[in-house]
Amino acid sequence: MIVPGSASQALSAALADETGHRLAVPEFDRFPDGETCASVPGFDGGEAVVVAATEGNDALVELLQLQDAVREAGASAVTTVLPYMGYARQDRAFEPGEPVSARAVARAVSTGTDRVVLVTPHEPDVAEFFDAPVEVVEAAPALAEPLPADLTEPLFLGPDASAEGLAGAVRDAYGDGETDFFEKERDYDTGDVTVTPSDASVAGRDVVIVDDIVATGSTMSEAVAALRERDAGDVYAACVHGMLARNARTKLAAAGVERVVATDTLERAESAVSVAPPVADVL
Ligand code: R5P
Repeated sequence: MIVPGSASQALSAALADETGHRLAVPEFDRFPDGETCASVPGFDGGEAVVVAATEGNDALVELLQLQDAVREAGASAVTTVLPYMGYARQDRAFEPGEPVSARAVARAVSTGTDRVVLVTPHEPDVAEFFDAPVEVVEAAPALAEPLPADLTEPLFLGPDASAEGLAGAVRDAYGDGETDFFEKERDYDTGDVTVTPSDASVAGRDVVIVDDIVATGSTMSEAVAALRERDAGDVYAACVHGMLARNARTKLAAAGVERVVATDTLERAESAVSVAPPVADVL
């Protein structure tokens, strides 16, 4: 059975359709002291695939509870799909005394599962923090699907050097266009981002900026604004994980974005394409 976490209900339903497996209907309760209780009353043994984006602490605890609930009900095997892994960006101790939070989360998740399926982790090395076997699904190519078919001289752009590979994956899936990237610097005290555009000519060209995640929207909105200043055509913001926290949508709109396109690893209004097909392939 596919067992959804509370933040991954639409994706789990799509995954059940895609695989032909049954969809469990967990219950998500909360005790008076705030503790969560996620249960799976209809689980009747067999293999469980727990699908849970851990976009907050409660969602992470719910995932651990779902893993435990299906084991308690006699699951013969447990696979855990992490469409979005919270804390993945804290993948090293940036200052003395800080935790490697991604490692702590990975170890906790590993205790309740036989294997893990991880969708576009922030860095590939995050997979090594798990004690259970991990398979990585690269979801960026799916972002080509919702883009208009008639982009003008399309340029697929990483807002920083590390995102150029993702931009290339979308370009390859789209079947046309060039890739490029900007240089990015972030002030970790203020969170402010500055981008330095490349020399590529963008005037009149449609640009698709591709990143793994849009969180506060600072990175993406700075890149959109830089392109608008250079008279680019339509500018699309494409990301696998559309966290879109705080005022990210407003920042992007104010910068002049044409459309924000994300997958359903985080379920948002901008989720224009599902990662169910590539996840189903791995399952
Ligand atoms: C950073 O390396 C990531 O790939 C994203 O660019 C970053 O996490 C986006 O964060 P924000 O939307 O807060 O600028």
